[in-house]
Amino acid sequence: MYTDLKGKVVAITGASSGLGKSMALRFGKEQAKVVINYFNNEKDANSVKEEVVQAGGEAVVVQGDVTKEDDVRNIVKTAIQEFGTLDVMINNAGRENPVASHEMPLDDWNKVISTNLTGAFLGSREAIKYFVENNIKGNVINMSSVHEMIPWPLFVHYAASKGGIKLMTETLALEYAPKGIRVNNIGPGAINTPINAEKFADPVQKKDVESMIPMGYIGEPEEIASVAVWLASKESSYVTGITLFADGGMTKYPSFQAGRG
Ligand code: NAI
Repeated sequence: MYTDLKGKVVAITGASSGLGKSMALRFGKEQAKVVINYFNNEKDANSVKEEVVQAGGEAVVVQGDVTKEDDVRNIVKTAIQEFGTLDVMINNAGRENPVASHEMPLDDWNKVISTNLTGAFLGSREAIKYFVENNIKGNVINMSSVHEMIPWPLFVHYAASKGGIKLMTETLALEYAPKGIRVNNIGPGAINTPINAEKFADPVQKKDVESMIPMGYIGEPEEIASVAVWLASKESSYVTGITLFADGGMTKYPSFQAGRG
């Protein structure tokens, strides 16, 4: 438990499923006030809200497309209207689809870049604007990926979006450090969420992914949520501009294990 998170106002984009949901529940356990943004699944968002309240937190649900400026402004506005302020902004919404790069339609590229990268920029910008104008030493957490450093054939849009998040976060961290505003990334490896459901339902593909993880197993969403609460808490007060990889060692060149190479 991180006692300083009690009563803190935390907005999470894409929080009706997967990592967003898991983070919302964990902040609920910390007795935080959670703004649950969802894109198109109101029913699931409402059940996340119920679970957050059951866990001991407070929660509000807000629809919004992170690629739209006004929708992102409305997420921050909802935090202020419902809970009086904003302390932590978590830009988590994301998407991906596999396509050979030479055949990738511009529409696929634009959808992934505008959700993963532009969406995280808009969320960061709106939160930081509020922090600066109100002298708040706020906290921004962006959901990156191991693919901010590992190239990923068939997912050039995704890799480009997460590589972009790396330098966006580092730049924002540098720019706003003098005001005490921290900006960090989480870099998950392969985690058991809906984005991977189809892949992990196939035992062959699942085994293949596991073979790329030195710790030997696919992570659970709670193992990312525990990183998020640490980054949001004062226990990480001197940490800014990093990507905290939670990936079972995936970024550590697993093919070199056992002295190969
Ligand atoms: P997910 O598919 O359950 O979550 C993505 C969420 O983003 C969904 O709730 C979806 O509705 C929402 N979303 C998509 N477009 C949106 C938009 N325009 N506006 C608002 N919300 C939108 O999958 P997961 O795994 O929970 O993904 C969350 C984040 O974690 C993503 O940024 C993803 O790239 C990242 N990530 C996930 C990994 C994994 O293995 N699950 C690994 C590394 C990064």
